[in-house]
Amino acid sequence: MVLGDSKKGRLGLPFFMGVFMQSNINIGMHFAVPIVRVSYPSPEALNRDLRDMFLAWEKDGVYKTLQPVPTNQVNIYESEWALLDREEPQIRSLRKFIMHSLLHSVAKLNNLDQTASLKLKPNIHSWVHLTSNGGYVSQHNHPNASWSGIYFVDPGESLAESKDSGLVKFATPNPAIKMHRDAGNCSLQGPLSHNTLVIQPKAGDLVIFPSYLMHEVSPYVGSGRRITIAFNCWFT
Ligand SMILES: [Fe+2]
Repeated sequence: MVLGDSKKGRLGLPFFMGVFMQSNINIGMHFAVPIVRVSYPSPEALNRDLRDMFLAWEKDGVYKTLQPVPTNQVNIYESEWALLDREEPQIRSLRKFIMHSLLHSVAKLNNLDQTASLKLKPNIHSWVHLTSNGGYVSQHNHPNASWSGIYFVDPGESLAESKDSGLVKFATPNPAIKMHRDAGNCSLQGPLSHNTLVIQPKAGDLVIFPSYLMHEVSPYVGSGRRITIAFNCWFT
């Protein structure tokens, strides 16, 4: 029996209709990437206090990291990497929120009971970015950590003509997935999608993601500062 044009390697309509009649096909979802999103409740006062403090640091040129950074960073003030170790009230509030969100997520994702959860010993590097007009961070991930996160203090100015400004973009972790794209796989939905995941910064939002996941920040266009706090976490 000839199904379609065998010289061109095509199978035609009879085969296609047979697929629809099949009822015992099981489709599994595997190799998923968890992205955690949490919002700080009523974040206005916290973010105002954080913003005032960070703008003063930048103005005074203090607490700037002296570490070499592994990414291309343009028009960005980056603080020292022990930001969440500080004891200012606004930092303490943010630390509590971030650590609660992180540990709760890790326990849930690893199916840890309370006893196992209490044994977790997190280590944190954390810093703030103040990004001015034209600033961006090239694509990177965070080696030597299991979980990373971004808290949005202030997304900065939002201009209608610059819709790409300051977006956080996550790439699929499977580089082979783009080996071949055609009508059979270019419209996969939800967690199976090959598309870049784009996060629109919103003040008070926290995003937690696996540290291996490649991501970047598109150029920020606007006056004022786009302010984010980032962290890496590893457990010992
Ligand atoms: Fe990053």
